[in-house]
Amino acid sequence: MRRLADATIKKLLPVLLLIGLLAGAGVASAAHGDAKPEKKGILLVAFGTSVAGADVAYQNIEKKVKEAFPGVELRWAYSSMIIRHKLAAEKNAEEHDSPAEALAKMMDEGFTDVVVQPLQTIPGQEFNATAETARAFSGMPKGMKRVVVGMPLLSTTSDLERTAGVLTAMTPKERAAGEAVIFVGHGTHHPANVYYPGLQYYLQKKDKLAFVGTVEGSPTLKDVLAELAQNKVKKAYLVPLLAVAGDHVHNDIAGDGPDSWKSSLTRAGITSVSVLKGTGESDAVVAIWVDHIKAAMEQLGAAQ
Ligand code: CO
Repeated sequence: MRRLADATIKKLLPVLLLIGLLAGAGVASAAHGDAKPEKKGILLVAFGTSVAGADVAYQNIEKKVKEAFPGVELRWAYSSMIIRHKLAAEKNAEEHDSPAEALAKMMDEGFTDVVVQPLQTIPGQEFNATAETARAFSGMPKGMKRVVVGMPLLSTTSDLERTAGVLTAMTPKERAAGEAVIFVGHGTHHPANVYYPGLQYYLQKKDKLAFVGTVEGSPTLKDVLAELAQNKVKKAYLVPLLAVAGDHVHNDIAGDGPDSWKSSLTRAGITSVSVLKGTGESDAVVAIWVDHIKAAMEQLGAAQ
């Protein structure tokens, strides 16, 4: 009986040793955290706003993203330092992370695969700064495996066509024949400003009295006033082409100051109606950003 047991042990010894080695290796690897379980996340990056109530646009975007990606954890970052500091100084301040802070926190929480979705209209300076920050976190040692950046609202030709269709449908219902609608975006000295005249082209295919203007780029207010005069427009709707109805909307577009779009139109003999809503409040516009998150998610999947 004893001899038999010895023989069995001798025969099994290499197997037992192997099991022991594997178990040891397993413990060692788990202890060093090499085999991290996959954890996907989405980071939404907005410029940020300090205008009370303007964040309804962000809340709507969050709702739509959560519906589209149930079970995927969502984080937010504001890319504007001025806005973050301004908000932090307020009473009952809510904390807002910069994109780098949010990504560092996600890294620490064990996220392995992250889609960063900037909520910009065009791939300009703000978008590219966020994209560069995000890419720096991709494949960082002991950090996230992959970080993929989703495209802004206007990225491909089909985005321009789709957005033109959505914006045309967003025109206020009370608009009558001969009345214009002006979509006012931010505008920039960055080469990506070309997306605004690009969008104008697709808008004009659908609506001859739909114009794109920008606060800081081209087409300028002067350009738009010239178009309105040429088309003998007497009334126009001013609709923001900005994610939130923040400072630019309330002051530069719809403000009572002499330089606002509203005041300039009045001086030109044109009655205007200002819409105080950001594009983030439109489900049809948000659906475009959501599709860009989906495309980035597919890229994450394809890289695995
Ligand atoms: Co600005």
